[in-house]
Amino acid sequence: MTAILELKGITRSYKTGQIKVQALAGVDLTIEKGEFVSIMGPSGSGKSTMLNLIGCLDLPTEGTYKINGVQVEKMRDSRLSEIRNQFIGFVFQRFHLLSNLNALENVELPLIYQGLYGKERKIRAKEALAAVGLDDRMHHLPSQLSGGQQQRVAIARALASKPALILADEPTGALDSASGKNIMEIFTELNEKTGITIVQVTHEREIALYGHRIYHLRDGLIENIEEVTELSK
Ligand SMILES: Nc1ncnc2c1ncn2[C@@H]1O[C@H](COP(=O)(O)OP(=O)(O)O)[C@@H](O)[C@H]1O
Ligand SMILES: [Mg+2]
Repeated sequence: MTAILELKGITRSYKTGQIKVQALAGVDLTIEKGEFVSIMGPSGSGKSTMLNLIGCLDLPTEGTYKINGVQVEKMRDSRLSEIRNQFIGFVFQRFHLLSNLNALENVELPLIYQGLYGKERKIRAKEALAAVGLDDRMHHLPSQLSGGQQQRVAIARALASKPALILADEPTGALDSASGKNIMEIFTELNEKTGITIVQVTHEREIALYGHRIYHLRDGLIENIEEVTELSK
């Protein structure tokens, strides 16, 4: 197996005036290609900080980080954003769709920034919407879709760039429990069918259990790694 993510001795401190907060206190984490894992932990335990580092949206204070074998902790911003575009799709709690664009246009938007034009871009966006079961809602505006459907558009937007990795911060946090389960079924299917690696943060155990493994964070450290088995469900 090949590691897609390799964090070693990662710390991240924030300084606000005189006060220093250590959000991550020395995290070692290796995730193999094709895994689906969950990160849980109380509020303030460092979950979002860790996901931002994994997603190359932020750099560690100390430690080393490799994504797909590429060392990133000393990279400049322009190179970091290349890595993000090339490898990573993001899914957020609040969808972050543009309200004046329909589903298809929302999915196409990042492809425009990546310089993909014409037919190819439309085909990719439509394929991604089909993969989340929304082929029949392409021309709907976000306001004409349910929360669960909006999150599916957001997942399609992440998929359209064909990332190796999906990072999701509380992807079901704004959804009712049936829609949340539906999103987890989509993640499971994508993971099984395409081998895409998924790392999600959640505070709901029911949601975390869709992953193969749960990393429990506390005070900026991985306190416990739980393998999910049929028995845990
Ligand atoms: N930009 C920031 N500036 C200062 N402190 C921060 C910043 N981001 C997070 N923190 C602090 O780092 C700790 C971990 O935060 P976070 O990663 O957001 O936790 P979680 O997502 O688990 O709730 C918290 O104590 C938080 O207040
Ligand atoms: Mg958070």
